[in-house]
Amino acid sequence: MTELRALVGDITQLATDAIVNASNESLLGGGGVDGAIHRAAGPELLAFCRTLHGCATGAAKVSPGFRLAAKHVIHTVGPVWTGGHNGEPELLASCYRRSLELAADLGLRSIAFPCISTGVYRFPADAAAIIAVRTVRQFVTTATSLREVVFCCFSEQALGYYQRELAPLGDDTRSERSE
Ligand code: APR
Repeated sequence: MTELRALVGDITQLATDAIVNASNESLLGGGGVDGAIHRAAGPELLAFCRTLHGCATGAAKVSPGFRLAAKHVIHTVGPVWTGGHNGEPELLASCYRRSLELAADLGLRSIAFPCISTGVYRFPADAAAIIAVRTVRQFVTTATSLREVVFCCFSEQALGYYQRELAPLGDDTRSERSE
């Protein structure tokens, strides 16, 4: 049984086996959560990411966590929102699915996601939350090592979208603040 839960906090502080980075196709850092993760992980992360030679939108690649509490960072590239008619929903779902597949391939037990694409890439946060929860729910129905999936929101508003999506099936939606 895999627990899905949502909280408001700084993903760089979470000690899940992996945290997911909302990166860009270069994998060479940026602002937002990407910048926060690189700052917290230290310069070794950028040096390692240079060896990955980029990542396509909707795909995911893994690196060590270096100075982070998390052992691994799964870098994924979300779609830029251009109105929803250029495959953005499917590409966003792919970010969650590929990240989960990589985590399961590594035998990880816990993973934390930021709200991928909902900042600079302007994907509507409410629609993104629905895609995120539904994609994760579908994945965890198959056998997997994952026992915990955390949706790490950065605002109470984003948390509200996840609470609405998680509540019906009784998943835990405590709005804990991470330390
Ligand atoms: N912890 C958790 N969530 C965070 C943090 C943090 N420390 N910092 C920002 N966020 C949230 C934002 O509030 C937003 O809800 O992460 C979500 C994703 O926003 P962005 O980081 O802007 O990512 P995205 O919209 O996917 O755009 C990716 O931005 O930073 C660049 O290099 C990145 O080019 C890429 C683009």
